Amino acid sequence: MPSPDLSVEYCGLRLPHPIVVAPAGITETADHLRRCEDAGASAAVMKSYFEFEPARRHATPRFRVIRPGGPMSARVLYSFEQASVFDLQHYAEEIRRAKETCSIPVFASLSCNTEEHWLEACRAVEQAGADGIELNCSCPHGTHITRGDDIVDAIVGALGVARSATTLPLVPKITPQLARPDLAAAEAQEAGADAVILFNRFTGLDIDIETQQPVMHGGYAGYGGTWAIHYVLRWLTATYPLLSIPIAASGGVFDAAGAIKMILAGATVVQVCSVIVVEGYEAIGRIVQGLAEYLERHERQSLAEIRGIVCNRLVTLENIDRRNRVHALVDPSTCKSCGTCLRVCIYGAVSINDKKYRIDPEQCDGCGLCAELCPARAITMIERPVPLERG
Ligand SMILES: Cc1cc2nc3c(=O)[nH]c(=O)nc-3n(C[C@H](O)[C@H](O)[C@H](O)COP(=O)(O)O)c2cc1C
Repeated sequence: MPSPDLSVEYCGLRLPHPIVVAPAGITETADHLRRCEDAGASAAVMKSYFEFEPARRHATPRFRVIRPGGPMSARVLYSFEQASVFDLQHYAEEIRRAKETCSIPVFASLSCNTEEHWLEACRAVEQAGADGIELNCSCPHGTHITRGDDIVDAIVGALGVARSATTLPLVPKITPQLARPDLAAAEAQEAGADAVILFNRFTGLDIDIETQQPVMHGGYAGYGGTWAIHYVLRWLTATYPLLSIPIAASGGVFDAAGAIKMILAGATVVQVCSVIVVEGYEAIGRIVQGLAEYLERHERQSLAEIRGIVCNRLVTLENIDRRNRVHALVDPSTCKSCGTCLRVCIYGAVSINDKKYRIDPEQCDGCGLCAELCPARAITMIERPVPLERG
């Protein structure tokens, strides 16, 4: 069987695969973009340029890993890294340098507050050779969010102004902090976006309870981690059926499985950031290889064959099977008698006899929590011969 085709069409570009590096310090200079290319990225987005000048000076320290020793899934990357350190002239110069030294497409990312500056910045990055422009009105510590702007209005306004200044593809980045991000994305499409990005990071806060101070630099920060993917997947599946433009998924992808989930939910490209911040640029190659292996294993020739297929598989609230179909069963040979199942069962289904736990199938609600929490993995959920109807 020929090797699968990972290529995707995005903003008029044919990319060899969907893994794009999202904007952050890891894409701040032409040298960083070169590292993205060397590590196998199909495109990269330069760290955002901000009109708001104070944002261009980095605060220190600006990274904290919450629950650092725990598994990756429990960690939170908490950070305050606002804008590129460059002014507009230097930012455009860096794009020019990147285009001279890299062959992958390079997107600019702009965050402006005034119409004049949107115009000036779009023209500057187009002249410098950028392949597209991300419109960043969604930075968790950017001016739009901190001022409490109506983000959808800001995106639609930015699209209108930017379109009058440039013919480059325009890609607004949507904040997750909206009640209906799917409708925001649809409005962006209506306003002329060439693609949309779901999402930037959440704005949040952590507090040191001993000093009773906000941690790090003393203000709000952005936060993310592998957990964020579930939020993105949920809104991807709602957004994909509404749009005819491509969606770039961003948030919580740390491995190939994460990227595959995003594509199954409707993403055309998958932007990665935090995994590179904490594991290095090599993560890109691992994810791309995992994508190819997945398609081969599932005997698929291209990503188009799997894109968005989960959208049609979602069950509506009315159609969820709410019968009691399964019950828990303890394997006495692997049970370590720790008592976790007894503690968490709120249905009174667990009893103990000779230090071994037993679950009464009649009392068992089939919720599955004991099986998920059993440290010895001694509990399995068994299909009932006849599902129990609930009263
Ligand atoms: C340290 C850091 C800096 C970031 N800077 C930017 C930025 O300048 N512009 C932007 O649009 N997004 C920025 N982001 C958001 C990322 O591009 C990305 O959308 C987000 O982190 C979610 O993806 P991830 O879970 O792969 O990190 C930043 C994220 C981090 C962690």
